[in-house]
Amino acid sequence: MKTILSILLVVIVLAMSIIAFAENEKSFTYIGNSKCVMCHKGAAKGNIYEDWQKTKHANAFATLGTEEAAAVMKKLGREGSAQEDKECLSCHISSTEFKTEGVNCESCHGPGSAYKTTHSKDKKLAIENGFVEKPKEHCVVCHNEKSPTFKGFNLDEWYPKIEHHSKPKQ
Ligand code: HEC
Ligand code: HEC
Ligand code: HEC
Ligand code: HEC
Repeated sequence: MKTILSILLVVIVLAMSIIAFAENEKSFTYIGNSKCVMCHKGAAKGNIYEDWQKTKHANAFATLGTEEAAAVMKKLGREGSAQEDKECLSCHISSTEFKTEGVNCESCHGPGSAYKTTHSKDKKLAIENGFVEKPKEHCVVCHNEKSPTFKGFNLDEWYPKIEHHSKPKQ
């Protein structure tokens, strides 16, 4: 009886640690701009969404449908449409579900499923849940020589073109 009980105990402990492990390996999913926009749109909130819409990032998926993109594809010897090419999409969208949004909020701030409701209250928890607080360091994930049209990247010059703030400009 005793051995059966201790075997059972071992099994339970094992099962629990597997569950705990699975929880540590949380995967965060993209929820799309519409979820961020609920709280980050309009003059009182600093026109963050409106400012993003004016940037080339908002156009990044559409760009892959242009003749310019087709020319890039041809030069690289790639078949098909750039809008369906995984390699091109890897930098021009955040996820296929929200591809028409191009380089959207979550491309820089991280997939929002687990931080969207906590990031304004507990930043440490949000970061554990996939929130990217300092996306300035992440520009070069896409802005590098793997971009077939790369002409260099200078953070100090380029950042002001995409800058957005919660507090309305005075
Ligand atoms: C329920 C409302 C709500 C939603 C939804 C929401 N936010 Fe926020 N967010 C806030 C509030 C409130 C703040 C703190 C005040 C501010 O900076 O506007 C904030 C702050 C931020 C900050 C600045 C954090 C800092 O301390 O520097 C970022 C970046 C951000 N949100 C991104 C996002 C992104 C990306 C999404 C969508 C995935 C999102 N938010 C969805 C309410 C929300
Ligand atoms: C997920 C990939 C990705 C990340 C991260 C990213 N970008 Fe971009 N960026 C792009 C793509 C793709 C384009 C081209 C969009 C187009 O022309 O349709 C672009 C275009 C731009 C442009 C316009 C360039 C021009 O030709 O006028 C600026 C400015 C820019 N990015 C700044 C930044 C800064 C600053 C950061 C970091 C805070 C950043 N980007 C992060 C993918 C990214
Ligand atoms: C190209 C990358 C990029 C994209 C796209 C982007 N952000 Fe940001 N965001 C940044 C960077 C960089 C900062 C400044 C972080 C820092 O202070 O270092 C920032 C700051 C913020 C802040 C804090 C602003 C403050 O008051 O200081 C909020 C809120 C925010 N972003 C929300 C959003 C939302 C919502 C979207 C989509 C509509 C979005 N961002 C799209 C890169 C991006
Ligand atoms: C490593 C990330 C990355 C990959 C992969 C990528 N792009 Fe881009 N793309 C960018 C960035 C960043 C920009 C804006 C700055 C630049 O040209 O480097 C851009 C800009 C563009 C532009 C606008 C050109 C311009 O001068 O503004 C076109 C067209 C384009 N990409 C097509 C493609 C095609 C087609 C593919 C796939 C074969 C592709 N890109 C793959 C990151 C990438």
